[in-house]
Amino acid sequence: MSKKVLQGFFLTLVISFLNQACSNNNTNNMDVTVKLTSQAYGELEGQPITEYTLTNLHGMQIGIINYGGALTKIITQAKDSSWGDVLTGYDSLSGFMQTANPYFGALIGRYANRIAKGTYKIDGVQYHAALNNNGQSLHGGLKGFDKVVWTATPLAGDSSVQLNYESKDGEEGYPGNLKVQVVYTLTADNGIKIDYTATTDKTTVINLTNHAYFNLSAGKSLTIKDHILQINANQYSPVDTVLIPTGESLEVKGTPMDFTQAKRIGDDLDKVAGGYDHNWILNKAEGLQEVANLYDPLSGRSLTVLTTEPGLQFYSGNFLDGTLTHTKNGIQYIKHGALTLETQHFPDAPNQAKFPSTLLKPGETYTHTTVYKFATK
Ligand code: GLA
Repeated sequence: MSKKVLQGFFLTLVISFLNQACSNNNTNNMDVTVKLTSQAYGELEGQPITEYTLTNLHGMQIGIINYGGALTKIITQAKDSSWGDVLTGYDSLSGFMQTANPYFGALIGRYANRIAKGTYKIDGVQYHAALNNNGQSLHGGLKGFDKVVWTATPLAGDSSVQLNYESKDGEEGYPGNLKVQVVYTLTADNGIKIDYTATTDKTTVINLTNHAYFNLSAGKSLTIKDHILQINANQYSPVDTVLIPTGESLEVKGTPMDFTQAKRIGDDLDKVAGGYDHNWILNKAEGLQEVANLYDPLSGRSLTVLTTEPGLQFYSGNFLDGTLTHTKNGIQYIKHGALTLETQHFPDAPNQAKFPSTLLKPGETYTHTTVYKFATK
């Protein structure tokens, strides 16, 4: 063997060793082993929509589009080693753009969940956010961050895609020019890390989240009733008939809302009027912490949610009714066909003095990190 060939052989060995070390490093987010590709996904008002696909060393794959900053796919391995997409979604941009699209995979803002009658005051001035849900303002109004085109930039290292959007002063009834940045990262340990930051030039309210719907069976179970869920929360926010929090914080103990111990979702689902669609008040201190675990016994897939946020909206897909079109493989997403675990500040906080504040002032930076981590057991 020539010296050159030997050198090449050792170089390959060193690289593969480094790759392996990288994939075992749980905290490594600049995963040089992630591969990024991009493909045209359509066009909106003359602007190209692009899908970015990230694939890590284990083969886990996610897709992101710059329309609504939406996740398009999350392909993970089941316990039997087969691959499947655990994210509810569409086969094309037309799916995302249909009027009835219930925010599949999208970024939500300027205010995730509801503001009662869309009205709130900041420093004595009354503001009116656009109404779009039973006389309330839901998920940012008529054209929230889920329906705008973001500027997408793949970051060095190929494991992250950065999305930027500037929401103008007065947009959907919110004050202040708001600069929003969201970075999606596919980590070496099968996590989707979402880092949100925002700044404003006038005091405003802000509550950003992602609205991914999961069914860990990847199409094998029609509903999520057999999924097992655990939430680190001793309290939740009860709601009125139009899903606005009453302002109380109730103990979950002894109620269908109790997920402190892992529980099959279907067990108490029928005892909750309309199904689960509430804010759980997380038992957590500052910082990024594990707040929920989801497990699908059929596929053996699990999902762990970590967040810096104080609340979690667990929504059991109550309004899904099988009528969405352009769905992946023509799947009918029926009632409870998928669920969301939306990390957030509490719904209607701008009107609830006891809830953690959602005010953002000039000179401050809003930050929020959430990780959805996939595994099997
Ligand atoms: C959130 C809300 C639900 C519903 C869905 C979208 O999860 O809490 O009430 O509006 O979004 O359909």
